[in-house]
Amino acid sequence: MRYLILSDIHANKEALGAILSFVRRKRWHKAVFLGDIVGYGANPNQAVDLVRSLRPQTGIRGNHDKVCSGIEDGELFNRVALAAAMWTRKKLTKANLTWLRDLPEGPAVVDGHFAISHGTPIDEDAYIFGEIEALNVFRQTDFPVCFFGHSHFPVIFGLSPDAITTILTIGHSFRYKLRPGVRYLINPGSIGQPRDGNPLASFAIYDSDARAVTIYRIPYRVYEAQQKILKAGLPKPLADRLAIGR
Ligand SMILES: [Fe+2]
Repeated sequence: MRYLILSDIHANKEALGAILSFVRRKRWHKAVFLGDIVGYGANPNQAVDLVRSLRPQTGIRGNHDKVCSGIEDGELFNRVALAAAMWTRKKLTKANLTWLRDLPEGPAVVDGHFAISHGTPIDEDAYIFGEIEALNVFRQTDFPVCFFGHSHFPVIFGLSPDAITTILTIGHSFRYKLRPGVRYLINPGSIGQPRDGNPLASFAIYDSDARAVTIYRIPYRVYEAQQKILKAGLPKPLADRLAIGR
């Protein structure tokens, strides 16, 4: 089975649209998403509609989905994130707001093959940045493979019986074959707001039969997404960061 792994779309219709055009030429069976469909970008309804049109197998909420749909008030958000969340809450249609509000909290297990979480499988709002956080998660869970988002940084952590390894992704299509006896935490990167210094939209395809993950980087019309953010009156840093991937 080949799964599309989509994370941190953040209402960026241009980025998600470019990925969906790209995967039309690829073989895939089911889509899953790791949260943060909305927040930051200027097209929250279109992002939700596109995700729903994929009829995802499984999907979970992210911290921005919670604040934008009114589950939480965003007291931990910075000024820019909160302004975008309040703008998004007003823009969402009633149907999309309800759909976002009803998204389950992670983790979820997909077809018995792998787990998904937004932040970590222990705490949906916590970040995995490096090996220390990854090791903590490995110790407190027993998932052989778990995909996570939230940090907007594509990376693979592997835990073998004697070592933890960080695998950084390179190039436009980075294929990595999972090794037997090693557990993995895998971030497919962010579609709508990459933060690894590379502005290209990031997502993954996981082949559960071959036990191989490929992380793709896809160019999209960044300028158009930026102009929409500015025209909507959203904070300017949200537009600026898209061009530099920060
Ligand atoms: Fe996010």
